[in-house]
Amino acid sequence: MKINYPDNEEFYSLSFYVDKRVLIPRNDTEVLVDQVIKTLKSAQNQDISFIDIGTGSSAIVTAVTKNTPISLKQIFAVDISLDALEVAKINIEKNNIQDKVSLYNSDLLQIFLSWNKKIEAKNLIITANLPYIKNGDIENMDQEVLDNEPHIALFWWEKTGFEMYERLIWQVFELKKNNRFQEIILFIEIWFDQYEYSQEYLKSLWLKYQYFKDLNNIFRCIKIQF
Ligand SMILES: C[S@@+](CC[C@H](N)C(=O)[O-])C[C@H]1O[C@@H](n2cnc3c(N)ncnc32)[C@H](O)[C@@H]1O
Repeated sequence: MKINYPDNEEFYSLSFYVDKRVLIPRNDTEVLVDQVIKTLKSAQNQDISFIDIGTGSSAIVTAVTKNTPISLKQIFAVDISLDALEVAKINIEKNNIQDKVSLYNSDLLQIFLSWNKKIEAKNLIITANLPYIKNGDIENMDQEVLDNEPHIALFWWEKTGFEMYERLIWQVFELKKNNRFQEIILFIEIWFDQYEYSQEYLKSLWLKYQYFKDLNNIFRCIKIQF
C-alpha cells in the first residue's frame, strides 16, 4: 500500500480528504455501510438516531448520512482523537452535511452516558470501526501503514484486539437501560481472526447477532441487536 499525504480517497463513491491524522477509509468497510442502509430501508419504526464511534475521516457517518433512505432524527460522530475530529469536520463540510452531523470528542459512548441531554429517538443505530489489531500482529503489518497511519486508529495493545468492543458493548447495555430505548443495533468491523472469539463472547451475553463477509469473503462485520 503506497501512501502519499495529503490525499483524496474515494469511499462509497464519495470523496474524502485524508492526512496523517486519520486512517485511510478501506473498501472493506463499505460492507458495514451497506448493512446499515439495508437495516434502515427495512425499519418498521422511523424514530431512529445514529452514532458513529471512532469516526476518523468521517467515512462511515458521511456515507450513511448521504445514503440513508429515511430521515434520521439526530446524527452524531465521535472520536477520542481531536486531530481526527478536525479531519472529520473538513469532510463533513466537503460533503455538505454539516447541518445534519454533530461531532463530539468522546471515549466511546462516554459523552452520551454522562450527558443530561437524552438522545431524542426511541431507536438507535451505532457503528464502530475501532482499533482492533492486537499486540502480536504488529510484525505482519505493512511498513507503509505502520509509518504513516495513526497508531491510535489501528492498535489495541491487548490479547485479542476485541477488548475495546467488549467495553463498548457494556456501554450500549448501560445506554439502553438509562434511556429506555426500544432497540439499539450496533454494527462493528472486526479483524479476520476475531470471528470465533467474538461469536463466543456474543453468545455468552445472549445477544442476537449476524455476521457479514467483506470483499475477500471473510467475516468482518457484525450486526448486534440489543
Ligand atoms: C480504525 S479507525 C476507523 C476510522 C473510520 N471510522 C473508518 O472506518 O475509516 C479507528 C478510529 O477510532 C478512534 N478511537 C480510538 N480509540 C477510541 C475511543 N476509545 N473512543 C473513540 N474513538 C476512538 C481513532 O482515533 C480512529 O479515528
